[in-house]
Amino acid sequence: MSLDLLIDLAGGITNILRILAPKGRITVAVHDAQRVKTLPDHIVTESVLGEWQLSMVRDETITDEHLAATGRQIAEQQREQASAHLQPIACPYRPQWHISPPQGLLNDPNGFICHQGEYYLFYQWHPFACEHKDKYWVLLKSQDLIHWQWQSIALTPSDWFDSHGVFSGHAVSDGEDLWLFYTGNTRLGHDRQRQTMQCVARATKEGTFEKLGPVIRTLPPGVTEHIRDPKVVYQQGRWHMLLGAQTETLQGRLAVYHSSNLQDWQFDRLYGEELAPYGYMWECPDWFELEGQAFIVFGPQGIRSENPHHTIEHQNRIFTVEQDEQGHFHFLQGWQLDAGFDFYAPQTAQTPDGRRVLCGWMGLPDEIDHPSCDNGWIHQFTALRELSWQQGKVIQRPVAELELLRRNVQTLTLNELGVDVATKSFELILNLPLGGELHLMENAQHKVVLSFDADSKVLRFDRSQTEIRQGDTVRELALESEEVHLQILADHSSLEIFINQGEQVMTGRVFTATDATRISLIGAEVTAEFAQLSAMNGGFAPC
Ligand code: FRU
Repeated sequence: MSLDLLIDLAGGITNILRILAPKGRITVAVHDAQRVKTLPDHIVTESVLGEWQLSMVRDETITDEHLAATGRQIAEQQREQASAHLQPIACPYRPQWHISPPQGLLNDPNGFICHQGEYYLFYQWHPFACEHKDKYWVLLKSQDLIHWQWQSIALTPSDWFDSHGVFSGHAVSDGEDLWLFYTGNTRLGHDRQRQTMQCVARATKEGTFEKLGPVIRTLPPGVTEHIRDPKVVYQQGRWHMLLGAQTETLQGRLAVYHSSNLQDWQFDRLYGEELAPYGYMWECPDWFELEGQAFIVFGPQGIRSENPHHTIEHQNRIFTVEQDEQGHFHFLQGWQLDAGFDFYAPQTAQTPDGRRVLCGWMGLPDEIDHPSCDNGWIHQFTALRELSWQQGKVIQRPVAELELLRRNVQTLTLNELGVDVATKSFELILNLPLGGELHLMENAQHKVVLSFDADSKVLRFDRSQTEIRQGDTVRELALESEEVHLQILADHSSLEIFINQGEQVMTGRVFTATDATRISLIGAEVTAEFAQLSAMNGGFAPC
């Protein structure tokens, strides 16, 4: 039976929620079971985890091209349905100069790259609710890394190989061509068996993205279906694809493939054995050089901290690596990129003047209940950071272009009397002495407390006196210095704290009342540099 007939019986293309291709079969899930017509016997219908699915044997008349054409039709529907979720909902927690989703859930940055003189930055998006489901890619573009313009819903979960999510990946700029590599995620049957494929799409002249389908359909030996988030780099005469992976013994690893043409990929091997045990899964690898030193960034999951306040197992790491004569990777020394609450899945891009700029997801995988959900959206990106490698340290600074947002620069005297800065979007630079306790976003009920403990020499970021609903409330960072230099970026419901000229960073979502605009300092008096940070369009569609 033809695919067109199956879709017709299922109530037409507007009723198709997803398409799947389990072994030897074609399955479609529908939005509305009432619209399904009377079915012939050979079509099996069943409710799979709350979704009404119709399934039939795939005969040889159904070609990959048929499936691709159907995918394009589903994509059209999905774009239209998602377009009803582009109006940014007004919300006091919404950042005014960070990228946030108009509605729904944003997670990882994807495809961050400078291509033909423009910056491209995509995000993982679920348009319809604050939940992790059926991810889309949204495209924003910028000329200056600060002002981001909405472009399109670039990729939707429309095809048999990605219908439970166009998962994360990177872009490759190759001359005029812009390639997107991503993981197609599907879940089959009642036990939601995961099926993972690495896929490619390419930009068209019209600025849309044409899916070319899976380029890696099978798993490397000894690896589970948890293998994803391709990063593709050209080096030493061939393309390398780095993937986050999990072994059958539930160890996180880096999987590497090679290709000469970006389409045919050969598995090389798994890396990371020398760090083991190092978590049950590694996600979102990135690979780049700073001052001639190679680094790999990834998100190891399942690493416990000895600090009782730090209960979250989703980590972020950067490692120096070296490659031997065979090109094999060896992990050398590693650090956290961010010691705060909300930082995961970062990606980097290189600027035309050679800087390495990082954007992270200001959020964590399991946390989906923030006060902003009451207004229908959750999560945001971090400020962009410039990375450098100085005397054996990874240094992160707010990207230089952020200066464009500074307004009304002034000197504040901070002491326990406090000062009402009448805004929650600012930059504050000061030295916090040992024993000092800085209160930010403070009113009678709320405050964020940043204290430098004199006994333990620990910098403590405490958000327990805020409206936080989920996640840790205290983060601690041991420091060597007597005084700590802080550059703090605030934006309504976030704080990004750059410590000792970028040697460490602590990032956190902090939800407080709208009038929580005081800053005070207990235990010391210091002068601080203060600037308001002006608003910019965080990449919303013109509605
Ligand atoms: C990381 C991650 C990725 C995956 C994506 C799905 O946050 O779990 O590994 O591709 O999110 O949205």
